[in-house]
Amino acid sequence: MNEQAWQFKREVQDFWKKVIKRLQVPFFTLTANNLKSTTYPDLPGPLDWQKIAGERKIHVEIGSGHGEVLLANNRMKSIVVGYEIKSRFFRLSQRKTRRRDDIFVYKGSGYESLALHFKNDTISTLYILFPDPWHKKKHARRRPLTEKFFARVAQKLKKGGTIIIATDWQEYSDFIGSEVQKVTKQYEITICPYVPDDYSLPITHYHRKWARKGRSFTAFVLKKLG
Ligand SMILES: C[S@@+](CC[C@H](N)C(=O)[O-])C[C@H]1O[C@@H](n2cnc3c(N)ncnc32)[C@H](O)[C@@H]1O
Repeated sequence: MNEQAWQFKREVQDFWKKVIKRLQVPFFTLTANNLKSTTYPDLPGPLDWQKIAGERKIHVEIGSGHGEVLLANNRMKSIVVGYEIKSRFFRLSQRKTRRRDDIFVYKGSGYESLALHFKNDTISTLYILFPDPWHKKKHARRRPLTEKFFARVAQKLKKGGTIIIATDWQEYSDFIGSEVQKVTKQYEITICPYVPDDYSLPITHYHRKWARKGRSFTAFVLKKLG
């Protein structure tokens, strides 16, 4: 089967997965306990996270790693939904956050989760700190932070909602820089040195690791326009 046929097959499969998940929503009892004990494949969607958050904001993190951003969530002001694809890091985040009813963490791809699990105009902030850079040339096309991704996230963000990305990898920074220039109708874009305090964020494991190696960090802040 050629690449195009594979792509088509994947799109058809994704379409049916979304339909099935959508049909499951009315049968899912939406409580913090249920959300915490359900796994990514069983999570129907899109869910009414606002029912859990109440007046609070909804934040999402892709690639939660050791869980620092999740743990720094202010439970009075927001809930946070984290996604981590590696089992080891997922278990670590899950263990650290198991007693918190404002933190929900799932093992699975965060990039697909936004379309699957969230309603439009609901997310206040999406954090993507030190995403895997896919630095080998042959892997560069796997980079998920593309124009297409940013356009899709715009639907899920509230007006004024933001995407905050930090990277230490210059080539990835150049790549993201060129992709964000294609979505200036949807977002106000700021590119600046990354300073976690500016966003009330903690220093994460990878931030510390790359700082020890003397790397510098770039932030991309995409604020959804009205
Ligand atoms: C370089 S680490 C950064 C971790 C953390 N954000 C930090 O700053 O320490 C990148 C993380 O993203 C996770 N990751 C990669 N692809 C992912 C995906 N599609 N969905 C969720 N997590 C993903 C990796 O497993 C890894 O933990």
